[in-house]
Amino acid sequence: MKKVRVRLGRSGYTIHIGAGLLSETGRLLRETGLDGKAIIITDPAVRDFYGTSLKQSLTAQGFKTTLLEVPEGEQHKSLETAGRLYGELAAAGAERNTPVIALGGGVIGDLAGFVAATYMRGVPFVQAPTTLLAQVDSSVGGKVAVDHGKLKNMVGAFYQPRLVVSDVGSLTTLPAEQLANGLSEVIKHAIIRDPEFFTYFEENIDRIKALDEKALEHIVARSVEIKAQVVEKDEKDLGLRNILNFGHTIGHAVESVLDFGIAHGQAVAIGMMAACRISADMGVLEKTEIPRIRKLLRRAGLRTKLPGVDVARVLEAMKHDKKVADGKVKLVLIRTLGDVFLSADVDTAIVEKALVSLR
Ligand code: NAD
Ligand code: GLY
Repeated sequence: MKKVRVRLGRSGYTIHIGAGLLSETGRLLRETGLDGKAIIITDPAVRDFYGTSLKQSLTAQGFKTTLLEVPEGEQHKSLETAGRLYGELAAAGAERNTPVIALGGGVIGDLAGFVAATYMRGVPFVQAPTTLLAQVDSSVGGKVAVDHGKLKNMVGAFYQPRLVVSDVGSLTTLPAEQLANGLSEVIKHAIIRDPEFFTYFEENIDRIKALDEKALEHIVARSVEIKAQVVEKDEKDLGLRNILNFGHTIGHAVESVLDFGIAHGQAVAIGMMAACRISADMGVLEKTEIPRIRKLLRRAGLRTKLPGVDVARVLEAMKHDKKVADGKVKLVLIRTLGDVFLSADVDTAIVEKALVSLR
């Protein structure tokens, strides 16, 4: 078992990482000073796998537990679902000190966190992430939100959890494409901050894909350490936290042109390749580093080529995302492994050339 502390003064918290930890959640909540009632928010698939063991671990520690369900899918990360959940929390007798526990992927984490941040002006929030993406990214850093209309994460807050319980054993039931989604964010963390972690990845990718528990524990712990260090310096996303968006600006545009018919992690991998090409074209990255990054992404099951989309439409989508102004694009670029920076000065022509080269 590993522990990572997120140092944010009175809002600081511990991330617990290890196999079998869901059945320890009741004890960990108690150690954090929580007791009384507890509400679990989850989806039907995750409930079937892990609902009972989490509930039993809470009941064994004296919690009076209610499990609430939200159907699977991003479309349920909405104000409408939040509204329904407020009613269900009230019916379950949830009070200001009642913890809300998000058991599931990033959709459940973002939604349950939003509900926890707003119900009775805020109740204790606990993350129990069960996808790799949620364990390495969305459960850490306090961004909680729901979508509104066509806009993702339009209504939300910064609301840090009291505790994160990442049971890497839960990743054994995750479909392969969901694992690849999370690996994209882990590789991103290695690229932006830690060349040694990148090498670890190269040497251990087969163990990771075979779901070796020790390897999973290591990549989740190192990933959240990296994210925590960034969040500690820029909790409210006003500067440094931007570097976590490496690969995401172009990735989002590709997702939107394909009408979300591509997995997020796959789009981010393409975005990271594009950011590398652009950095090399602008003379900040040695071209020789690109094949190494491409090879690791491929071995992780990620795409490095742009599927058949119109490059002009990708550029247009970036304009809508307000990432393009006066023919210049704001992008996170790379100097070398472990060293990235935000540039507000990338020519759209260079972005276009990079995208064409990835066709
Ligand atoms: P998801 O939450 O939709 O989960 C994917 C699917 O996996 C679901 O169908 C779920 O039922 C299933 N699942 C979850 N755990 C499982 C397990 N252990 N075994 C089998 N199936 C399991 O997808 P996601 O990729 O985890 O999260 C995506 C969401 O995260 C998006 O809404 C995105 O906006 C958000 N996000 C938030 C942040 C943040 O900082 N808050 C960061 C990145 C992404
Ligand atoms: N996922 C990016 C962030 O948390 O800032």
